Amino acid sequence: MRVSGYCKTKRWFALLSCLSLSSMLLAACGGPASILDPQGPVAANETFLFWVILIIALLVFVVVEGILLYSIVRYRERPGMPNPRQIHGNMKLEIAWTAVPTVILFIVLFFTIRGVLQVAPEAEPADANKVEVTAIGHQWWWEFHYGKYNITTADSMHIPVNTVVRVNLFSNNVIHSFWVPQLTGKTDVVPGHTNTRWFVAKKTGEYLGLCAEYCGTQHANMRFNVIVDTPDQFQTWVSTQQRAAVPPASGSLEAQGQTLFKQQCATCHGIVGVNATRYVDTAAMCSDAFPGSSPSNTTNCPVGPNLTHFGSRDFIAGGVLAHNRAQCHPNNPNLLEQCNLAKWLQNPQAVKPGNDMAIGQLTTEQIRSLVAYLESLQ
Ligand code: CUA
Repeated sequence: MRVSGYCKTKRWFALLSCLSLSSMLLAACGGPASILDPQGPVAANETFLFWVILIIALLVFVVVEGILLYSIVRYRERPGMPNPRQIHGNMKLEIAWTAVPTVILFIVLFFTIRGVLQVAPEAEPADANKVEVTAIGHQWWWEFHYGKYNITTADSMHIPVNTVVRVNLFSNNVIHSFWVPQLTGKTDVVPGHTNTRWFVAKKTGEYLGLCAEYCGTQHANMRFNVIVDTPDQFQTWVSTQQRAAVPPASGSLEAQGQTLFKQQCATCHGIVGVNATRYVDTAAMCSDAFPGSSPSNTTNCPVGPNLTHFGSRDFIAGGVLAHNRAQCHPNNPNLLEQCNLAKWLQNPQAVKPGNDMAIGQLTTEQIRSLVAYLESLQ
């Protein structure tokens, strides 16, 4: 059969598209948030299951395609060839190609069920130092409430190394999915139903977390980082977070920023020691189970993240920007171009279209004072 030039080009185009797409997918697996580099037992179990299924699938693929290619070449039509032997109704073959896939699928089922049981809530190891965190999915950022320590943060979740962490997942808006590829697989965050997830981090460091369920326009920009501390670092972090914000010196740029915060930001954001007396457990206060605590009740259920220790976080606005402190010194003449926090304050809708942040147009001086104040909240 003759293939026209157009068809040939189309075939090559399709082949190249497949190749480039698969290399892009493979490249995505090698990044910092790769499931192929697990750093805890839960993620390791899930990665093991991934390899088991991948290897079985590859073996099946190679064997089936091998037989297919061999048959195509070996038994291709040649002039004068007789009709091939007909095998319709061959009982042995029928039994073999029913039994072999069944056995293979039962092997996959065995490892899948074993994997599910290994990471199930019931398999959570006993640990006297267990840390329990409520992760709250907002549109589009993550809030973390530590009930035992009575602290609430956003964007950055601190946990101690080699310690069981139980995460209770709460949403009062849409379905999100909590995912830290190197520590734990995806768990849905469903309104009206609290899922739980446990995991352990075996190595200190920072791990990227993501939302893995499409939840609106900024779904891809709903990220957080998990900071795994030594037990001492974790305790220091907890006691720092428990403190109210340090008041700025009167007459300073920071003090101007605080005044501006009270005028422009205090309806949606809380700062303990400024416009809030304590941290709020959003999951409890914003739940439909608590009448009078609907999300429009901004005292009990603030719209934006608590900023009491904003300066200590690594992400801004649900991970859409990195918190580049070095560029955010108020004396930086290029503050608006270089400091991500300043960019965010200048035009939050340009940075993350569709987000809930509503702030009037600020002058450069106002942005400078707000940056100085927020950066001082360590
Ligand atoms: Cu939250 Cu996607």
